[in-house]
Amino acid sequence: MTNPDLKVVADREPVMGLDARYFTDRDLYRRIIDEVFYKNWLMACHSSQVSKPGDYLTLEIYDQDIIVTHTREGEIKAFYNVCQHRGHKLAEGCGNKKLLVCPYHAWSYDMQGQLKAAPHTSKVPGFDSARICLTEIRLENFLGFLFINLDPNAASMDETYPGIRDEMLKLCPDVEQRKYAYHHTADEGCNWFVAVENYNECYHCSNCHPSFAKGIIDPNTYSIAPYGDIKVLHHTSEPSHSDEAWYDTSGADYGSFFLWPATSIQFYPGGVVNSFTWRPLAVDDVRVFRSFYSNDGEVDDTLQKVIDNDRETTFQEDLDIVREVQRGLNSRGYKPGPLVLNPEGGINSELPIYKLHEWLRAAVD
Ligand code: FES
Ligand SMILES: [Fe+2]
Repeated sequence: MTNPDLKVVADREPVMGLDARYFTDRDLYRRIIDEVFYKNWLMACHSSQVSKPGDYLTLEIYDQDIIVTHTREGEIKAFYNVCQHRGHKLAEGCGNKKLLVCPYHAWSYDMQGQLKAAPHTSKVPGFDSARICLTEIRLENFLGFLFINLDPNAASMDETYPGIRDEMLKLCPDVEQRKYAYHHTADEGCNWFVAVENYNECYHCSNCHPSFAKGIIDPNTYSIAPYGDIKVLHHTSEPSHSDEAWYDTSGADYGSFFLWPATSIQFYPGGVVNSFTWRPLAVDDVRVFRSFYSNDGEVDDTLQKVIDNDRETTFQEDLDIVREVQRGLNSRGYKPGPLVLNPEGGINSELPIYKLHEWLRAAVD
């Protein structure tokens, strides 16, 4: 085996699963939020969701409100969504506006984050609206997907995930032309890391996801492996060769890229682009955003079938699993068992779980 990690695990005693406190302890959870979610790249939305000047979209990363804006000058920016007067949340939802007007005392800001007007301040000594601006956040457009990072000193996306842009373009050369088409969400009733672990192993697929294993991929060729020594897990497979494929999957291979800590961009065979983003809500809850993209932003019959089949089968099956796992992690009787680290890799190896544990522990231990 060429992967050095596989050699390491082959030489060792069984590697045990992560202690339950990583999924259940409130203090540790807070530390994980600070060290993982406030210091890494997270997908905010797709550029097509803020395609025109004046467009804005809000989101939450745990207790931080964020707003993404498209300025009159044509730039896309991200800010903390908080008024610089006395801290009211500035905007809700999404839409298109010339100015963002705070609901509290009506201070208004342009899409560059600059304060433009503040009622009854003309006689206030020293009040200089030109010096008042929303607090900007790092934002990068990665093949049309907008990522934010709350750490002003973070390395760029290309430095953090080298090679991934090219890998995605290989699978889907026109990915940048995709437009946001549809999304649904679910509050999963588990710690974010339960959901991320579950997403990144397919040891459970044949047991729990009979439809996915026929509808999209070829389970005999499925693999999830670390991508070099960066914090990316690369899912690969030949397309489904089954009569029960959800659509004509003969176009291209399947590939998905889990970008630590909480985003995955997936390319179903034939360029059906979709993504997962997980946003933590509480130690025992996480909201998953399941998004789909198309060439024109519309959902055609094939995409609708993929969305419906995914939601009714794989997505729902995983929801049921992760809720039960969270309950189990709270059990007084749970002792972490050995990971199934098959030295030959393949669909039934939990090597990706081992890597996820390594990355989490490096951040907080
Ligand atoms: S807090 Fe926004 S205007 Fe006062
Ligand atoms: Fe699953």
